[in-house]
Amino acid sequence: MLILGIETSCDETGVALLDDEQGLLAHALYSQVDLHADYGGVVPELASRDHVRKLLPLCDQVLAEAGKTRQDLEGIAYTAGPGLVGALMVGGSVAHALGFALGIPVLGVHHMEGHLLAPMLEDNPPAFPFVALLVSGGHTQLVRVDGIGEYEMLGESVDDAAGEAFDKTAKMLGLDYPGGPRVAALAEKGREGKYRFPRPMTDRPGLDFSFSGLKTFTLNTVNAAKDEGRFDEQVQADIALAFESAVVDTLTIKCRRALEQTGCKRLVIAGGVSANKRLRAGLEKMAEKQNASVFYARPEFCTDNGAMIAYAGAQRLRGGQRDGERIVSVPRWPM
Ligand code: KG4
Ligand code: ZN
Repeated sequence: MLILGIETSCDETGVALLDDEQGLLAHALYSQVDLHADYGGVVPELASRDHVRKLLPLCDQVLAEAGKTRQDLEGIAYTAGPGLVGALMVGGSVAHALGFALGIPVLGVHHMEGHLLAPMLEDNPPAFPFVALLVSGGHTQLVRVDGIGEYEMLGESVDDAAGEAFDKTAKMLGLDYPGGPRVAALAEKGREGKYRFPRPMTDRPGLDFSFSGLKTFTLNTVNAAKDEGRFDEQVQADIALAFESAVVDTLTIKCRRALEQTGCKRLVIAGGVSANKRLRAGLEKMAEKQNASVFYARPEFCTDNGAMIAYAGAQRLRGGQRDGERIVSVPRWPM
C-alpha cells in the first residue's frame, strides 16, 4: 500500500511517501521558522496561509522523487489534531480533496501517535511493549505502549510541557524561537555547578511532571543576574546548562521509575525535545544500569514531519480504518 502522509499541525509542512513493504520512499519538510521568527512564536493565521502555499507542491515533489504519480497513491494520512485549527484544516482539506478525486481511503491521525511511532521508521525498531516518553512543545507524557492504539497513560505534565519550558527559557535568555535547540547550543558553553535548579516533583512518588515552577526559578535567576549587572554571555550559558540539566534529570528520574513500575526493558523517546543530546545521553546512561535499551528517531523525525504521520496512518489504514466524508480536525485531542 502506497501512503501519502501529511503534517500541518503547527509551523512545519511535512509530506512523506511510505510503501508498506519498501518503507519510506521520500519525504520533504518545509519549516516556517523564518516566517514566525520576528514574532517570537507561531502566528496561527500566517501558519495556515503558508501551509496552503507549500503543501501541494511538496506532495508533488515527494511523488516525483519516488518516481510515482498521484494515481499510484493507495491511501492518505493527515494530522487531524491536536494543533492549530486553521493549520490542521489545510492538511485535512488537501488530504480529503485528493482522496476524493483519486477514490482512495483517507484517515486523520493523532499527531502524538505519529511522534510515538516515529522510531519505528529506523533500522532497529523497538518491539512492543515499551514505555514511551513523549516530549514536545505541547506535551510531556509517559505512556505504556502494548501495540498500535494500545496506550496507557502513566503520567503527564500538570502544567507546561518540557518543550514549552525550553522555549520560554530561550526567551528569557534573549534567544530566538524555536528555543530548544538554541538553549541546548548555549548550554554547551556553560560551566557545571554554577547554578543548581530544582528537579520538580521528583521527591514524591508518581510519574507526573511539572515544569512551570522551573520556569519561574529560571526567571528569578535571570532577574537576579541582571540586577547584579552580571548577565553576560558566560552567565547566560551557565543558566542554560543548569536549566537543561534540571529538565534532563527530571525526565530521566521519571523514566527510570516508569521502567521499574512496568517491568519494560525498552524505552522510546519521541517528540521535538527527544532530539536533545544531553537528554539522550542521560537516558542511555540510566537505561544501561537498568539493563534496558533506548530507542529514538533520527533528529529530523523527532520534530514534526510527514513520515511519522504516513507511518501511523499506514498501520491504521491497513487495519481498515478510514474517515467518513467529513474532514476530521480536533485542535484539542487527548491521546
Ligand atoms: O514535536 P515538536 O516538533 O512539535 C510539537 O509537537 O510541539 O516539538 C517542538 C519542541 C519545541 O518546544 C522545541 O524547542 C523543542 O521541541 N526542541 C528541543 C530540541 N529540538 C526541538 N528542545 C530541546 N533540545 C532540542 N535539541
Ligand atoms: Zn509535534
